[in-house]
Amino acid sequence: MNEVKWLDSAVFYEIYPQSFKDTNGDGIGDFRGIAEKLDYIKELGCTAIWMNPCYDSPFLDAGYDVRDYYKAAPRYGTNDDLKALFGEIHRRGMHILLDLVPGHTSWEHEWFRQSCRGERNEFTDRYIWTDNTWEAPEGMNALIGIAERVGACGVNFFSHQPALNYGYYKPKPDKPWQQPTDAPGPKATLEAMKDIMRFWLNMGCDGFRVDMAPSLIKNDEDRKGVIALWQDVRAFLDREFPDAAMVSEWGEPDKSLLGGFHMDFLLHFGPSHYNDLFRCDKPFFGGEGDASEFVKTYKENLAKSGGKGLMCIPSGNHDMIRLAKYLRGDELKMAFAFLMSMPGAPFIYYGDEIGMRYVEGLYSVEGGYERTGSRSPMQWDGTENAGFSTAPADKLYIKLDPSADRPTAQAQMNDPGSLLNEVKKLVSIRAEHKALQSRGDIVFVSAGGPGEPLAYVRSGAGERILVVLNPTDSKVTVAAGGVPDRQIYSLGGTAEANGSDITAEPRSACWYVLR
Ligand code: GLC
Ligand code: CA
Repeated sequence: MNEVKWLDSAVFYEIYPQSFKDTNGDGIGDFRGIAEKLDYIKELGCTAIWMNPCYDSPFLDAGYDVRDYYKAAPRYGTNDDLKALFGEIHRRGMHILLDLVPGHTSWEHEWFRQSCRGERNEFTDRYIWTDNTWEAPEGMNALIGIAERVGACGVNFFSHQPALNYGYYKPKPDKPWQQPTDAPGPKATLEAMKDIMRFWLNMGCDGFRVDMAPSLIKNDEDRKGVIALWQDVRAFLDREFPDAAMVSEWGEPDKSLLGGFHMDFLLHFGPSHYNDLFRCDKPFFGGEGDASEFVKTYKENLAKSGGKGLMCIPSGNHDMIRLAKYLRGDELKMAFAFLMSMPGAPFIYYGDEIGMRYVEGLYSVEGGYERTGSRSPMQWDGTENAGFSTAPADKLYIKLDPSADRPTAQAQMNDPGSLLNEVKKLVSIRAEHKALQSRGDIVFVSAGGPGEPLAYVRSGAGERILVVLNPTDSKVTVAAGGVPDRQIYSLGGTAEANGSDITAEPRSACWYVLR
């Protein structure tokens, strides 16, 4: 597989297009708004963007319910506007991943309408249908009583997201509607998805973040079927688009990398213990928590993926409660000192760089439910609607954080001690040291158990860098695993080197180059 070089030093910025910047006063973000703010993202030091789905959709799941994969959602602009945005991004030396949603469509997609028809047609097998209206596919919720045809159609997430049919890894003989992965229906679905990828890659996008990547093949416990499916996609990309970058929402890097993805996301659900660090009653970076289970699973994944920790750790995303609900002040800075010194490309969720808060008490917008409070408009400045939009406040896509002291990008730009400036600093130091970037190695020297710091040595390109994160109330000493040479980052006091030991102040962080 071709290595995509720019991923090695990439720092991503996730844009939820609805809430980033509105330029035509309709209360919802758009492509032109993103183009206007590219310099802000570049100045932050980010080199790449992941944009949430921007395709035509009824928006019952914020666009993860695609109605037409080939058409930009008119509320954001036209396909030409999107192409122009790609151009603006590339002109700045940056890259963009679109969000590919291969597992399901909206129930308004034309494929699904055709698939519902009684008479057999090209799309009859495009989705997972049983042959009995009263029998849902095992382990899935289903749509029943909505079609001319006989059968129940499995859904992947919400009820309006029917599951595309890529087949069953082990179809059951007594269930003839479970098709093998090489049956014509599943094969046609995969080819249709490749055509969609071709279309956007030809238009100029640099690759995809793939939604629910392990879910495509059913009855596939060890994921052997879906790994083979992604290897097939990998072969297609190697042939036609060797420079396309692929990042999976999967959570098992060994399997994802085997499937031909370049990097995998660390998930906030499942076994990762990611939440122990950031999002729980006692998060590690809050000072009284425990990072050791996180470190344990991280090391397991590292070992399973050949020592390559190509796991992208996000500051947050559109599915998680905002970081600033659990962490404050310097705790947030320390969390970023962690994020910017880990392997894999880090992802900054828009607004996390200024500590945007979770907006409490909102009604659900576009299937957001509890996620809605993390999707509020970006707070740019102190003008009307925080500079997000000129629409009347009640026309905004989601209500703004109503608090008088809500953070804004502009105020933080002018404050040397702000979170924004700290994040900038961290990103720029990462950019100067290959050892800190995506592919550098990592060895843990302190696992962050109760009362302990989290410390690790990153190495690469002939350099070794010790990272010590001590959110506790006590001074701590760690064995550096080398002779400390010079400190390149400090928060909350300078660390002291003594022989091959480093002593860090309470609530402090340091990055130290070792000799
Ligand atoms: C992914 C997305 C989430 C969406 C779901 C269904 O988890 O991140 O926002 O609701 O898939 O597509
Ligand atoms: Ca708009």
